[in-house]
Amino acid sequence: MMDTIKVFSPGSVTNLSCGYDILGFCLDKVGDTIIVKKIPEQGLRISSIDKYDLPLSIDENVAGIAAKAMISEVKISHGLDIKIEKGIKPGSGIGSSAASSAGTVFAINKIIGSPFSNRELIRFAMEGEKYVSGSYHADNVSPILLGGITLVRSVKDLDIIKLPNPKDLIATIIRPEIEIKTSDSRKVVKSKVTIDKMVRQSANLAAFISSLYTEDYNLMSNSIVDEIIEPDRALLIPEYYNIKQISLKAGAIACGISGSGPAIFSLSKSDKVANDILDKMSSHFDNVNINYNGFVSKINSEGVKVID
Ligand code: HSE
Repeated sequence: MMDTIKVFSPGSVTNLSCGYDILGFCLDKVGDTIIVKKIPEQGLRISSIDKYDLPLSIDENVAGIAAKAMISEVKISHGLDIKIEKGIKPGSGIGSSAASSAGTVFAINKIIGSPFSNRELIRFAMEGEKYVSGSYHADNVSPILLGGITLVRSVKDLDIIKLPNPKDLIATIIRPEIEIKTSDSRKVVKSKVTIDKMVRQSANLAAFISSLYTEDYNLMSNSIVDEIIEPDRALLIPEYYNIKQISLKAGAIACGISGSGPAIFSLSKSDKVANDILDKMSSHFDNVNINYNGFVSKINSEGVKVID
């Protein structure tokens, strides 16, 4: 039996414009590293988080909250020490809290002999999301724990569907250096939609799902559209519509807000186009004197993994 485990828990992009709170995909190399160690004293402790001044208290940290929910359902004869190395800045729109909470429950599960499947871990990881955003949503934690692209049909029944991951699809992420709290970004979302918008959004969502199965990139391009959330959240993100226009002109299949922002995702079919999009968006942010951070990522089919 191992006494220490180290895992890499990647970032994730959610909503994908047409699937608010239900669609998400897993990123590749950007993420948190989590080390869990068995200790003789009972209970859970977070002994270090390397940056961003995040709380170490179990009841105030997303990883601690997820771990506590999980541990309450198993019997273990030792305690657990958690160390988190943050590779994702909180409030960036690529699932910082989800990477910590999903990675922590995944690591604990492995070290205690895997009593839960990765699918079952979604329930615990989601407790961290509830704490930080005010509502249960599993669109970030699902692709981290299951890999690839996922659809959350129901958080109540935890009915999560794994979707095909078209082999050529590649993401470009750019994030202006501002922080948007998920809870604030959720407050700008209107609680009511008109029936005509509902009809168009469901048509786009259905068409997007179909495009993943058929690898029809034209259909994908036409269906990654958001008439409901984007207009309100775009106001929180500097240069959003200019960046989107630059991305589409540079050959992106689609471009939209990643999760609750400020990160912006683009999808394309080749490394070359993905990097070209990154260069052009970067030049624009340079020209308007906005600090940013950007990268290109495959859609990671594996998800969270043990690295040591
Ligand atoms: N679907 C969520 C949102 C993801 O857009 O608010 C944020 O973590």
